[in-house]
Amino acid sequence: MNVSANISTSLAAKTVLLGVTGCVAAYKSAEIVRGLQKAGVRVKVVMTEHAGEFIGATTFRALTREPVAMRLFDEPGDAIHHISLAKEADLFLIAPCTANVMAKIAWGIADDILTTTALATTAPLLIAPAMNVGMYENPATVENMKMLADRGVQFIEADEGYLACGDVGKGRLAEVDVIVARTLEALEVTCDLAGKRVMITAGPTVEAIDPVRCITNHSSGKMGYALAGAALRRGAQVTILSGPVSVSAAQGVTVVPVTSASDMLEAARACFGEADIAIFAAAVCDMRPVASATSKLKKETAGESLRTIELVENPDILATLAAEKQKGQVVVGFAAETDEVLANGKKKLASKKADLIVANHVGNGIGFGQDANKAWLIKANEVIDVPEMPKDDLADIILNHALELL
Ligand code: PMT
Repeated sequence: MNVSANISTSLAAKTVLLGVTGCVAAYKSAEIVRGLQKAGVRVKVVMTEHAGEFIGATTFRALTREPVAMRLFDEPGDAIHHISLAKEADLFLIAPCTANVMAKIAWGIADDILTTTALATTAPLLIAPAMNVGMYENPATVENMKMLADRGVQFIEADEGYLACGDVGKGRLAEVDVIVARTLEALEVTCDLAGKRVMITAGPTVEAIDPVRCITNHSSGKMGYALAGAALRRGAQVTILSGPVSVSAAQGVTVVPVTSASDMLEAARACFGEADIAIFAAAVCDMRPVASATSKLKKETAGESLRTIELVENPDILATLAAEKQKGQVVVGFAAETDEVLANGKKKLASKKADLIVANHVGNGIGFGQDANKAWLIKANEVIDVPEMPKDDLADIILNHALELL
């Protein structure tokens, strides 16, 4: 891989914070520093004390011409060094990252300079794990990686081969060129939404019948949260107006929790005026009960109210706000359909006055709650057929088109 081909003038102003942890592969971090510097990136190093058993801070100090952080209180001029490091980073790359450090970051444990910085930073986190195959495949490590990935952390997969301990399997630190290229890619991509505000509605709305019963739907929030993570990685300031979900937002995304469609409209209205791109991925209940009882409706005494629940139409959040759209704003809506997906999606482009509609199939185990999605992107003069892919990847494609329309 030719790293120099990736050199971009926009990278010159970028700072990568390189985290180094205690692993035999730590010596390769010095080559990672050189690779990034060749592309014009400023590199600062934060390392654990265990990493110091494998490579000295002096090496990194000499290569980067920057102070190297190894202990929480080793910068006398900067009493809260982890916070200043966290703020300086455009991207936090941890390579190599041990199972232990990954577990600490996943669980929010901050007991050294590297993990406190990881907890404090809002910069995108890119992790290149390296460890013994047994540790890599241990369910605890697998679970921790999944938890981090769900929060928007990106991984550079470990390679297979001979490991330092003599075992053969997955766990070798990825090749230095691959790590450098992935880091540059992440930095480049980070730039294109810098300075932009993106608001996203996500998840279901919940409409109360009484304190224990409700009308809702199967949206998990995965699509909306994938969009939020992708927009954040690309440098945007991101706000999600989210119905109740169990997925977590990437670190750095502002989440405004809401319950009903009326709450969601109010919250969305508060940030729509400032948004450059507004994306409506929520599955909003079209109807709500005319009245929500304050006490549980008893079958014996309120049988009739339970048998026939009178409904009233909810506000259409997308249509309401799209009608208030100003020049320079892009509105992206979704269309969730069980039949005639494309035809119905086209109708929604016009009826909702959106700039782009993402039409997708839902129901019978498709769309809702899945990690992957197949969609058609419908614009005024163009339809793009996007094959099934992880929602994270689809999110980037949607953002590419939204950006084009901006
Ligand atoms: O959350 P996941 O489990 O990942 O599933 C993803 C998804 C299937 C929910 C998502 O991909 C999706 O399709 N979201 C839109 C769901 C929906 O309500 O579609 P709709 O065709 O009913 O509505 C059309 C558009 O109007 C949508 O952008 C919707 O957010 C918006 N709308 C609808 C009704 C309403 N009262 N207010 C709205 O803003």
